[in-house]
Amino acid sequence: MSTYATVVLAAGKGTRMRSKLPKVLHPLVGVPLLEHVLHAVETIPFAPSFVSFSPLLKTYRPVVVIGHEGEQIRAVFAERCVYAEQSEQLGTGHAVLAARSVVEELQPLPDTVLICYGDTPLISNEVLARVLREHLTQGATVTFLTAYAESSSDFGRIVRDARGQVREIVEMKRASEEQKQIREVNSGIYCFERVWLWSALQALPRNAAGEYYLTDLIAMAAQQERVVATVRGTLDETIGINNRVQLAAAEKLLRQRILEQHMYAGVSIIDPETTYIERDVQIGMDTVILPATMITGRTTIGADCRIGPGTTVENSVIGDRCSIRNSVVEQSTLEDGASMGPFSHCRAGAHLAQNVRMGNFAEVKNSYIGSESDMHHFSYLGDATVGEHVNIAAGTITSNYDGKQKHRTVIGDKAFIGCDTILVAPITVGEGAYTGAGSVVTKDVAPHALVVGVPARLLRMQSPSDAASFLEERGKKE
Ligand code: UD1
Ligand code: CA
Repeated sequence: MSTYATVVLAAGKGTRMRSKLPKVLHPLVGVPLLEHVLHAVETIPFAPSFVSFSPLLKTYRPVVVIGHEGEQIRAVFAERCVYAEQSEQLGTGHAVLAARSVVEELQPLPDTVLICYGDTPLISNEVLARVLREHLTQGATVTFLTAYAESSSDFGRIVRDARGQVREIVEMKRASEEQKQIREVNSGIYCFERVWLWSALQALPRNAAGEYYLTDLIAMAAQQERVVATVRGTLDETIGINNRVQLAAAEKLLRQRILEQHMYAGVSIIDPETTYIERDVQIGMDTVILPATMITGRTTIGADCRIGPGTTVENSVIGDRCSIRNSVVEQSTLEDGASMGPFSHCRAGAHLAQNVRMGNFAEVKNSYIGSESDMHHFSYLGDATVGEHVNIAAGTITSNYDGKQKHRTVIGDKAFIGCDTILVAPITVGEGAYTGAGSVVTKDVAPHALVVGVPARLLRMQSPSDAASFLEERGKKE
């Protein structure tokens, strides 16, 4: 059985990003650059080129080389990777050598070391598997991925001899005018024979820039007349992120890929140019996404919904047949048939049960609203539990914060909260109770009672049976 270890380089300063955040933690479609690379690495065993290839390969947790702000990277990826420290950033060759002791501890010792960079987030498991397969079939000392680029790009250039054999990789900084015209470039994905890799890195001289370039190993292998193989990839999957312009270009590309996946899966996206959907979002069939909409985090949206225009949905669960117009939904749940907007806000912990209608200029936070309830205009519900078939009329506010603590409001089924009611929590409004317009409710309201005024007082009971028991109660008191 063949074995391979993966080393991902992520120790560089990322100077060209001009950022406090380490480059590989910059988000792309909502997740860090390095997360994209690790995902590709971890899913190699499922890539078609890998599956169809034998002998079977054993794999290990990726070894990530960290240095600059390395603790931040460790904090994000924790046990998912094994870490090697590169104390001084002296180039990509130096970074790989920093991983040596960690790789040498792996059991059984890997035959092959697959190396990629933490700043090439568009690589796929399939392209990595292709490089591995080519490497093993050729019995090569080194195999690497190339692509065709514009002459202005900043990738290392592949120099070949008259027979087409690779001679070296020349970095742009050191390339002659003639070499700068070469279109075949280095994508930064390599497989090395492990034993040769360490000996070559140790023999690698420091270059004029004072660095050790991994790319210089190619010339070394060629001079030793070892087998140097290449695999051709596309430029898209190769994009390296060195600055924020490249980050935005990658974002555009990846965003387009994500939108296409949803469209092929039956989601209508009216204006892909203004629709942002992050990587982990799931959307059901026949849902329509209208322009200027952002759907982020681990959001799931059901089938037959209309989302947008001008809507943000973040880390939320939306059922089937929901409609959300010009609104913001964060960490919330909307069950089947719920609707909201235009211009409303579900904050963390809002839960609208089936067919709840939340209209305009409303806010719900940390509250459950039972099915078939209505809340059409200008209302705020915070820390509330609302029953089914409740009507929350215009201007209703839960006064849930007394300056020190938050308090709960409970509203029973079929209650009718009149316009401009203020519910001073903690408070319970009973089932079928009414509050009159403009009332300030400071005490619990009995089921089927009608309360009015400031502060609200009982006016009458709503049904004859309730009235009878009410009169009886009053009779007892008098
Ligand atoms: C590198 C390649 C170039 C290739 C391009 C593809 C070298 C010398 N050049 O150039 O041929 O076309 O990638 O994207 O390898 N890093 C460390 N420690 C260091 C230096 C870098 O861990 O001391 C890491 C960085 O964090 C980064 C990766 O290595 O993730 C690549 O380094 P970078 O400086 O971006 O190399 P490029 O100039 O893009
Ligand atoms: Ca780079």
